[in-house]
Amino acid sequence: MEVTNVTEYQAIAKEKLPKMVYDYYASGAEDQWTLEENRNAFSRILFRPRILIDVSKIDMTTTILGFKISMPIMLAPTAMQKMAHPEGEYATARAASSAGTIMTLSSWATSSVEEVASTGPGIRFFQLYVYKDRNVVAQLVRRAERAGFKAIALTVDTPRLGRREADIKNRFTLPPFLTLKNFEGLDLGKMDEANDSGLASYVAGQIDRTLSWKDVKWLQTITTMPILVKGVITAEDTRLAIQAGAAGIIVSNHGARQLDYVPATIMALEEVVKAAQGRVPVFLDGGVRRGTDVFKALALGASGIFIGRPVVFSLAAEGEAGVRKVLQMLRDEFELTMALSGCTSLREITRDHIVTEWDAPRARPGPR
Ligand code: FNR
Repeated sequence: MEVTNVTEYQAIAKEKLPKMVYDYYASGAEDQWTLEENRNAFSRILFRPRILIDVSKIDMTTTILGFKISMPIMLAPTAMQKMAHPEGEYATARAASSAGTIMTLSSWATSSVEEVASTGPGIRFFQLYVYKDRNVVAQLVRRAERAGFKAIALTVDTPRLGRREADIKNRFTLPPFLTLKNFEGLDLGKMDEANDSGLASYVAGQIDRTLSWKDVKWLQTITTMPILVKGVITAEDTRLAIQAGAAGIIVSNHGARQLDYVPATIMALEEVVKAAQGRVPVFLDGGVRRGTDVFKALALGASGIFIGRPVVFSLAAEGEAGVRKVLQMLRDEFELTMALSGCTSLREITRDHIVTEWDAPRARPGPR
């Protein structure tokens, strides 16, 4: 059957993938309340479309950290993509660059920064997990920079891995024919089997729980790449991130895989946007599955959004062609949403094009 929306790839991926892999991609933490809420919250935001505006030409292009891209829809880092498809991150990189948008490569990719760079031109960011051994971090950042990556997305919501119960039940571990390619030469590319989640044990062993704001400053001493802080969901941390020199903020709850019962990212977005006061761009990821979701995020002040699971599910279903199709469907839906809302460029998308539950009731004529 023809796939007509992004969500449909999830069921196809579930059929195709081994249970351990599908569950790793699909799961959230604990009760998975935030996982559902990331989607549900979008459905509580409604449109206030404007009519009779010439929408025969629509411009979706935008500039992110100085790089022009075709649309404000980008690819979030998702680990271990070769579990989904033999081409893994290669396929994703090609699909992103043919769509004219940005791919973020995970630290825990099954292809290295150099391998991804070898797929050809493209604007790419590198997602960083900070290891206890700072030499490992410094080397990796240098390699990413040399391979032409344009920014670091520093993940700050993972001092420990969230409790993903499916991974515990499945004794999740990286299949033996794969490695965390960026760490292969450093003897950190393998994940031991554990009597719970192999990934949770790996994180406990290698990732630095002491990570703090001073490390955001340290990172700026070892690279000239701009740093996006990924995983901010409060005004307080927005202000601290900007003080620490962040070039941008990604409002993210890690696809609901870390702390359960945090709000949906679309609910936290406006607080962060207000605190940022236009000093740095604010991005969002989490639950974006429709062009209407993209529009709602932009109306609340995001400069762009990132998608996570849709990439791994479509990759599992159809490889590079699947990821291309996801990007094309989201692009088409977003363009249609702009047209039906009366917006011809991203600049024209305003807060007044949507209404949320936290908006004051609009002025109605009072009793006479
Ligand atoms: C992730 N995410 C993630 N984030 C990160 O900073 N480094 C990583 O290696 C990964 N790996 C990863 C694997 C898988 C399978 C998923 C689903 C997610 C989080 C990711 O970047 C992003 O924040 C969310 O996926 C966005 O939510 P959606 O689009 O999946 O709902």
